[in-house]
Amino acid sequence: MRHFLTLKDLSSAELEQLIQRAITLKKMHKKGEIYEPLNNKVLGMIFEKSSTRTRVSFESAMIQFGGGSIFLSPNDTQLGRGEPIEDSARVISSMVDVVMIRTFEHDKVEQFARYSSVPVINALTDDYHPCQLLADMQTYLEQRGSIKGKTVTWVGDGNNMCHSYINAAERFGFDLNIATPEGYSPNQEIIDNTQAKIDLFNNVSDAVTQSDLIVTDVWASMGQEEEQKKREVAFADFQVNDDVMALANDDALFMHCLPAHRGEEVSASVIDGKQCVVWDEAENRLHAQKALLEFLNANS
Ligand code: CP
Ligand code: NVA
Repeated sequence: MRHFLTLKDLSSAELEQLIQRAITLKKMHKKGEIYEPLNNKVLGMIFEKSSTRTRVSFESAMIQFGGGSIFLSPNDTQLGRGEPIEDSARVISSMVDVVMIRTFEHDKVEQFARYSSVPVINALTDDYHPCQLLADMQTYLEQRGSIKGKTVTWVGDGNNMCHSYINAAERFGFDLNIATPEGYSPNQEIIDNTQAKIDLFNNVSDAVTQSDLIVTDVWASMGQEEEQKKREVAFADFQVNDDVMALANDDALFMHCLPAHRGEEVSASVIDGKQCVVWDEAENRLHAQKALLEFLNANS
């Protein structure tokens, strides 16, 4: 049985096949083809943080695949009242076919997976957001071809998305520049454990020069709301705006996992501009996760 807790749970070849499959599933869906490989299957969706894209894409994926999903929030399950993860994992996985979890501590999804009898998907933790990277890699391939050998620049917080970009750099074979304010670098252990070429910067202009893809994310992630004001000061020089995009390659793309804050991490001119592909990126969550659900189902 396979889980998807980080991108490293799949090989480069498996990830590349999965992205190709996502592109095929997208075409089939656009043609109105009915394809129900998960008929009668159920996805349990545990959300301990808010979501728009992740919830809608997974629920839609299950309906379109002929199955169903159950939304589980800590407010109205025993998870919120302290039932141990291992007990919850044993019980929930005895009734559903795959489990998706969005939570705080990454340990929690690992613990759940250890006791689960069905595949577990990480739908965002404080440390990683691998599902988003599937959509991002699909989007780059559709727009520009292979990302192998390209240079990607991450601008902003060394957060869960940044960590998943570090994993993606290794699995998909691109170089990654990371521009963060001092004190907001990604986890050094994740950098130490990658084969990818990662370069760290404390200013945006050196990092983005000659990049093929510029990516950013919110300055304060879910769970860091009380740090918003402090972070606005620390990240003031880390906005992706027209001046930043002008330093990158002419055909560079802009991505953001969303939700975005115009005027903070990205200017309105960039997110609403020609190089931005965030709407394709968001839509591809649906297609990429369908490919993931199909893969996990076939391997369980
Ligand atoms: N990008 C992303 O995961 O969005 P949601 O928080 O809306 O699910
Ligand atoms: N880094 C953000 C991503 C949201 C999809 C967060 O964790 O809130």
